[in-house]
Amino acid sequence: MIPQQASVLFKSNYTSNNQVIINQGGTSSGKTFSILQVLFCIACQNERLVITIAGQDIPNLKAGALRDALSIYYSWPELQALVKSYNKTDRIFEFHNGTIIEFKSYDNAQDAKSGKRDYLFVNEANGVAYDVYTELALRTREKIFIDYNPNNAFWVHDSLMGRPGVQVIISDHRHNPFLSAQTKEKIEALKLEDEEQWRVYARGLTGKITGLIFNNWFVCETIPEDAKLIAAGLDFGFTNDQTGFVLVYRQNGELWIDEIIYETGLTNTDISAALIDKGIRKSIDIIADSAEPKSIEELTRLGWKITGAKKGADSVNSSIDILKRYRLNITRRSVNLRNELARYKWRTDRGGRTLNEPVDSWNHLIDPIRYVALNKLRTTNKSKRTSWLAKAPQPPKGGVDYWAVVGDWKY
Ligand SMILES: Nc1ncnc2c1ncn2[C@@H]1O[C@H](COP(=O)(O)OP(=O)(O)O)[C@@H](O)[C@H]1O
Ligand SMILES: [Mg+2]
Repeated sequence: MIPQQASVLFKSNYTSNNQVIINQGGTSSGKTFSILQVLFCIACQNERLVITIAGQDIPNLKAGALRDALSIYYSWPELQALVKSYNKTDRIFEFHNGTIIEFKSYDNAQDAKSGKRDYLFVNEANGVAYDVYTELALRTREKIFIDYNPNNAFWVHDSLMGRPGVQVIISDHRHNPFLSAQTKEKIEALKLEDEEQWRVYARGLTGKITGLIFNNWFVCETIPEDAKLIAAGLDFGFTNDQTGFVLVYRQNGELWIDEIIYETGLTNTDISAALIDKGIRKSIDIIADSAEPKSIEELTRLGWKITGAKKGADSVNSSIDILKRYRLNITRRSVNLRNELARYKWRTDRGGRTLNEPVDSWNHLIDPIRYVALNKLRTTNKSKRTSWLAKAPQPPKGGVDYWAVVGDWKY
């Protein structure tokens, strides 16, 4: 059984005789989709196998590999006929032949010692610790598939590449015939923005992405109950760009941020309906991209309390400065925001020198946070700022490159 729509990546993975098959690649080259198709084929053809798909955490799997697996499943009738059930709670496909495909994440190496399997797929492996991988690999009888975008070299490069039985397949969007021309153009357009990101995301070459803008962010499980909502931020998108909506809270002098919407194709009426659907009250302050007065007006007419961000000449950098003064706690479920933060960087020129402006892409959730910073966390007047600064707590010594504002300190 072969999927109707298979790309060259499917074939290379399906026919590989190696024990470890590394799929390094640019964004949207079809790595995850193809490996899932291969695993579904293997599952249909073999009885009583255990196939494990491991990711960094469950929200990542849900937004990525698991969602793709379900879309493959629902569009492939022959496959559906061979699947006995899909258990949504445990995230397990069970086949009539006794084979199962499970989606799992492991907190640490000890956790990864539980269970054995025949096939393993480590999805977005740069988010999975090496000791977790080694425990899983030790308990895998047949083959291991790995995929990732190579922002930086990591354990795959250090410990797997070049070893016997290990194959490396490098792919990029040009290998994916199922991607729209617009998406391809958008990926290629990175060349004008930032050559280093283009190498990684458009060509799948191992990068050395430095100059990340935010290193003061951390994953948290939930927003603390006593956190106060500062405002929501909204960035409008449509065809190629996602509409992004976040809630920004403060508690204990730290910011707590929750991603609510990240989706293309939303009209203003859709945005309103989506917000209501997510339980957002109309009474909260929303700060939106002031470049879209018409959208702001339309949402106002739909009953939302929405204002444009106070953008000025240097507002991008000043809002970044404001946000760098806080510890940013990002909820685990904010998968797209975490991805944006992990790649949000200063532009570099052709010679690799860092410029004083961020790469203007993958910021549809970061921009709305900046809007909130501009309108709600902004300095009110300069002299006040200096006097506050003179009394401000100083950053700790010893190589800490961020520091949180303690208590209610505000500049
Ligand atoms: N064989 C395929 N058939 C249909 N669509 C595909 C196929 N392969 C990839 N795609 C589409 O391309 C998108 C990007 O593929 P994906 O596997 O997520 O890329 P990567 O993991 O390399 O970033 C998928 O979301 C899907 O829409
Ligand atoms: Mg992928």
